[in-house]
Amino acid sequence: MKKCEAQHRTGSALASLSLACALSATLGLTGCRGDRAEDPPRQFFPDMDDQQKWKPQTQTQFFADGRAMRQPATNTVAFSRAPLTVQTLEGNPAWASSFLADRADLLKSDDAVFTGKDASGQYLEKIPVAVDRAMLERGQNRFNIYCAACHGMAGDGKGMVGQQWSYPLPNFHDDKYITRSEDPNIPQWRDGYLFHTARNGVWTPDGTQNKMPGYAHALDVHDAWAVIAYVRVLQESHRGTKDDVPAAQLATIDAAAKAAADAKAAAEKAAADKAAADAAKAQPASPTDKPADKPADQPESGKGGAQ
Ligand code: HEC
Repeated sequence: MKKCEAQHRTGSALASLSLACALSATLGLTGCRGDRAEDPPRQFFPDMDDQQKWKPQTQTQFFADGRAMRQPATNTVAFSRAPLTVQTLEGNPAWASSFLADRADLLKSDDAVFTGKDASGQYLEKIPVAVDRAMLERGQNRFNIYCAACHGMAGDGKGMVGQQWSYPLPNFHDDKYITRSEDPNIPQWRDGYLFHTARNGVWTPDGTQNKMPGYAHALDVHDAWAVIAYVRVLQESHRGTKDDVPAAQLATIDAAAKAAADAKAAAEKAAADKAAADAAKAQPASPTDKPADKPADQPESGKGGAQ
């Protein structure tokens, strides 16, 4: 009690606290500010420090199903983060479209898009979403970020990391990644299989060992389809011939190729001329001119010597 009084002797504003402290001591309750105690703290003015509440995932007798957390009402779906009314939806389709896209994502109603498999569990043959230029560019961007380090910018398995791998990485230009096969053990030509691989990685058949990490954390389903579309572009461009190029662009390419060939020929000729000129200049007047500069058996400078 003495200690408490000493602490609060000064400062008349604290008089009541002092009093409370003295009072608690009188009542046989131990503990002053700074003292340690196992008991819960005493609250003289509880204000609204504590309120009744249920913590997440706890049980309660209050609801018939025994859960404290409630389920969303039946047949309802989280729709969007902004109030959505018929007026806003119908009056402003551009604005609504992003929410509708969100809604499709939240519902995940189209299994094929989200799993890469059809209703029977078979990997889809073809990408189930629309492919356009913007999507391909997105796919290129994501592929170069997330896949190229191992699989190479060209998909040939010769990325900087891929080259260091303990075994050769697959080459996406191999036949099995392109040509249709009825063999169930060769699913690599199916877009759905590539999609599944991009998101979930590659595992040993018993599922215990991870051979390639999955990228679902980095690629949402739309990005993953875009990456697969881009892999198809890489394959296509790899197999392309000059005949695939539209005539208008062919002229440009031919002109560029001719310019490059001309420049190369000119450079080669200049180099040959210079070599010939140098050779003529370097023709020694007499054999004694030659070994002038530095004898080969001596270091270039004193630096190499022991210090
Ligand atoms: C860290 C290196 C690494 C990165 C990054 C990587 N992969 Fe792979 N990937 C591998 C390895 C290793 C294999 C071979 C696994 C095996 O079968 O042993 C492989 C195999 C594959 C295969 C062939 C699967 C099969 O069954 O034939 C595909 C398709 C593939 N990766 C797609 C991707 C895509 C798409 C990305 C980018 C999202 C990606 N990978 C990123 C390492 C990587």
